[in-house]
Amino acid sequence: MSSLIVPVHDDDSRSSSDLPLREIPGSYGLPIVGAIKDRWDFFYLQGEHKFFQTRMEKYGSTVFRVNMPPGPWVSKDPRVIVLLDGKSFPVLFDNSKVEKKNVFVGTYMPSTSFTGGIRVCSYLDPSEQKHHIFKSLLFSTLASRHNDIIPMFQEGLQGLFSEDFLRRPEAHGHHTGVRWAEHNQEVGDIPDITPSIIVKGNYKKLYEVFSTSGKTFLDKAESEGMKREEAIHQLLFFASFNSSFGVSQWFPALMYWIASAGEILHRELAREIRSVVKSEGGVTMNAINKMVLTKSVILETFRIEPPVPYQYGRAKSDLVIQSHDAEFKVKKGEMIFGFQPFATNDPKIFSDPDKFKGNRFVGEKGKELMKYVYWSNGKNINDPTPDDKQCAGKNIVELLSAIMVAEFFLRYDTFTVEYEAGTKKLTIKSLKKATSSG
Ligand code: HEM
Repeated sequence: MSSLIVPVHDDDSRSSSDLPLREIPGSYGLPIVGAIKDRWDFFYLQGEHKFFQTRMEKYGSTVFRVNMPPGPWVSKDPRVIVLLDGKSFPVLFDNSKVEKKNVFVGTYMPSTSFTGGIRVCSYLDPSEQKHHIFKSLLFSTLASRHNDIIPMFQEGLQGLFSEDFLRRPEAHGHHTGVRWAEHNQEVGDIPDITPSIIVKGNYKKLYEVFSTSGKTFLDKAESEGMKREEAIHQLLFFASFNSSFGVSQWFPALMYWIASAGEILHRELAREIRSVVKSEGGVTMNAINKMVLTKSVILETFRIEPPVPYQYGRAKSDLVIQSHDAEFKVKKGEMIFGFQPFATNDPKIFSDPDKFKGNRFVGEKGKELMKYVYWSNGKNINDPTPDDKQCAGKNIVELLSAIMVAEFFLRYDTFTVEYEAGTKKLTIKSLKKATSSG
């Protein structure tokens, strides 16, 4: 069966579609009471997945209204329009249609007192000049380190992937990501993108660290007319929250899904990785570009378990959203919320969406599907720019993931793990050393 089920048109704004116009189903209930009831369902009676699933079935629609927690008294207005399919979801990436100001974590904005009174980049809409300035600065900082990244990361992995380390209790679970980062920092000396530092001290200490270690970034920010103090808070947030949160969710999940796919996939990965590394003379950029199956496995993990599941955006004007089966009118100012695990597990786009298929993105048909993977807050065929809200770390994260998988299968033939999805706790249960060099 073809894996691409429905041709989904990119132009979501067409009003001349054959789809019926439908009132957005769902209700917010009475003020406060309705929000508390939805919160109760979400946390206690149903849980996240069922919360969305039952409503989708009840309304017969992947687009509906509901209150998103936390609601009272954290969020003044928890009312959202939920998107659960892969066709309507990308409206959240269209900055001409949705405003991303202060919506980074949800329907409320946490106090800026934690970030020195500064609205950090993630809370800025691309229409705000500062967003462009700081995101561009981050890009140039990352680009200036580009050639160092592969060897630094590999050096870090040497310790992480030693058999002794993998079998130590502190290598397990959530700590793996953090420990990986610490290790990377110790050997790599890259304070600008070091997530683990967040666990080491209070904000003031971090502020001092970044005020010296981020000199190039800070000088450039000042030359662009930004205050040095603000630039330090921005840099600190890039290095701590932006990098560490996603990464600590991501790497254990990646290893879990690969482990769960079993020995046949492991053998195919090992074969691809070892032969490419042999012909290219190492784990180089060229080598990684040729690892088609490895890259597909990474994308499949991002698809099946997107590390940052919630995305929000406020309608900039009255607009029309299209799901697979209907069109819906959204009013200016309404909050749109996408729950990504449903969108990238959309059965109308992906065959057997609940199944992990390592080679799903291999070949021409596989390539076609890449635009429906949204982990970076954008279509996976696009690269982030200073004028959109796509994750600035997209390419680096994908590169580091490929290096990690490659380095692992250069050393080991197969492995098994135990994994707790909620806490991202990963425990390596067995490891088999590499028996051939490919
Ligand atoms: C934004 C995911 C790693 C820098 C985002 C967003 C997502 C995301 C979903 C958009 C949030 C929204 O506005 O709704 C991830 C994941 C990561 C990861 C899953 C790891 C697996 C990184 C790294 C960096 C980074 C390593 C830095 C090098 C940023 C920045 C933004 C962002 C600066 C804000 C972009 C903007 O305001 O335009 N990330 N990220 N991320 N990410 Fe990442």
